[in-house]
Amino acid sequence: MKVSKTEANKAIAALREELNRHNYLYYVLDQPEITDAKYDQLYGKLVALEEQYPELVTADSPTQRVGGAAGAGFQTVRHRIPLLSLNNAFSEQELGEFDQRIKRLTGEENPAYVAELKIDGLTVTLTYQDGVLTQGATRGDGVTGEEVTANLKTVRTIPLRLRGTPPGLVIVRGEVYMNKSDFETLNRTREDSGETLFANPRNAAAGSLRQLDPKITAARRLDGFFYDLLWWEQAEDTGPATQEEALMQLKEWGLKVNPTSTLCASIEEVITFCRRWQGERLTLPYEIDGIVVKLNSLQAQAEIGTTAKAPRSKIAFKFPAQEVETQVREIIVNVGRTGAVTPLALLTPVQIGGSVVSRATLHNDDFIREKEIQIGDTVILRKAGDVIPEIVRVVKEKRTGEEREFQFPTACPVCGSSVYRESGEAVTRCLGATCPAQLKEFIIHFASRGAMNIEGLGPSIISMLLTREMIKDPADLYALTFDQLLTLERFGEKSARNLLTAIERSKATPFDRVLFALGIRHVGAEMARRLATSFWSIDQLLSATKEEFLAVPDIGEAIAESVIHYAGEEQNRRLIHKLKQAGLQMALAPELQEAALPLTGKTFVLTGSLAVLNRSAAEEAIRRLGGKPGSSVSRHTDYVVAGKDPGSKYQKAQELGVKILDEDEFQNMLQQAAARQGR
Ligand code: IVH
Repeated sequence: MKVSKTEANKAIAALREELNRHNYLYYVLDQPEITDAKYDQLYGKLVALEEQYPELVTADSPTQRVGGAAGAGFQTVRHRIPLLSLNNAFSEQELGEFDQRIKRLTGEENPAYVAELKIDGLTVTLTYQDGVLTQGATRGDGVTGEEVTANLKTVRTIPLRLRGTPPGLVIVRGEVYMNKSDFETLNRTREDSGETLFANPRNAAAGSLRQLDPKITAARRLDGFFYDLLWWEQAEDTGPATQEEALMQLKEWGLKVNPTSTLCASIEEVITFCRRWQGERLTLPYEIDGIVVKLNSLQAQAEIGTTAKAPRSKIAFKFPAQEVETQVREIIVNVGRTGAVTPLALLTPVQIGGSVVSRATLHNDDFIREKEIQIGDTVILRKAGDVIPEIVRVVKEKRTGEEREFQFPTACPVCGSSVYRESGEAVTRCLGATCPAQLKEFIIHFASRGAMNIEGLGPSIISMLLTREMIKDPADLYALTFDQLLTLERFGEKSARNLLTAIERSKATPFDRVLFALGIRHVGAEMARRLATSFWSIDQLLSATKEEFLAVPDIGEAIAESVIHYAGEEQNRRLIHKLKQAGLQMALAPELQEAALPLTGKTFVLTGSLAVLNRSAAEEAIRRLGGKPGSSVSRHTDYVVAGKDPGSKYQKAQELGVKILDEDEFQNMLQQAAARQGR
């Protein structure tokens, strides 16, 4: 029905007001007054009117509500202290090696450890200000996580106020988990109502914590153990000196600490603890996947520091793998983002290590041949901790003669292009440049949590968008329209709107994650951060020369070549252009550029006489670029610059395996760093 512009204007204003009020009731007050269907109906009317009179669309119309829809997702929070993960030990011998390393690094003859159960849940941090719980967050990627305060407050064992007289600011780390019995009850109810089941208690806990409605979280009966004091403000040096004392402190404040945590005077005592819990783990009401061993002295922990990923002072002892028998029912192949054609075994579902497994990768043709795996075979499946389950061997005694050999396909099962295995390579690849399977995997990666984090854009929707040719690359996502989405199966107005909001919101994703989303070979999340802080923008990155890459600490040949190769492909450049036009962040935020000096975090020690720069000028140059000149060489030194007649520091660097630069190399590094900074 065509209405006059004046009438439309009035109706639009009324609809907007009404929709805004219902949004508020729904998201903020959580007290909806109308059904979703009714909301969709009102929304549809507004869309129709605005389509008739596009000139009446304003930026604040609910149809333009893009990003920041209150309550539609979680806020991200930057952790005050990055949440590292742990290195693993898979045997008692590796625990012994850890002990040796600790002794060498600390100079301690008899270091004491605290052994704790490794709870199989998910990491959270709690922030208490003046004793009051002000923020709860998930670990996320360790640097940023999601703010889930309202949900964590529903965990009854988490104190909303600390007991005693805690300092002004306290941040603790712990693990939120679901008891095995609660997990089973939950799955039974879900089964009854035809909902999908959670694979294991950890997934159930994660799913429950990420509910938009805290009432659902509350009903899930989560629990938590706390084990790390990440930060506390104190007037004097009165804080705990050891992990043992830290645990006592947490307990005094009213936080739940695992009662089995034990101070061990030696690694032998740690091993006894590990053996005991390996045997008794099934008696616990919750799942554990190992033991965490922590150097007791907090000062020593700080002194020996961390690697990029994990503290040197702690290690996770993973319980040995579990093995079960099952059958290979079929072998299929999958085509990945890089075109790799990977065979996959479909198995008779079996329970192993707390989850049900029904498929296992067979890696490549060689793997199948080596293990002599045939369709129909009985096989031994092994799962170690959170490692993906793997077929270890065939039980040949159980062969019946009905088994069939698997023939590796010669054409891509998805696009029909031929597949090719380069000599010396184990991987077979699909040669189709526009193979939809590759494209699909690429877009799945692009939208994934660690990348653009487009909530609701899962593999099945991506498949639909591709088959309907609504998208041909990830940039096309940003041109999708409400009406287009409505034509998809199972899409209502609400889901269409939510997806558009999520897509729009992803435009604010920081540059380093956009870079990771591009899926450049060898550029993982960590490397993407390094590249973003070193090169600052996509243009600088894609025009960088090999020398420029190699002059950046931590960047080697493989990365340099991969990025240069990527930049050389016309198709990639076109994609970048489109993504830029769509409004994605293609440069580091200016405030981060300030902080990201090219040599930040790197220490240099000078020895011998330098021909060009004198010592103080060299030190000044290092400082200006964010580096730190040091006077003595230790394991923490990144570079030793050796001039003429270097002294004992040179020898020490050699002993410790610290990288040694001659004056030319040093000059080159400074120049390249200065050039990068100058941009
Ligand atoms: S200490 C720097 N202690 O295990 C890492 N972690 O694989 C400090 N976990 O991400 C972690 N129980 O989520 C520590 N008693 C415990 C733990 C524990 C479970 C988890 C934690 C961490 C993961 C590492």
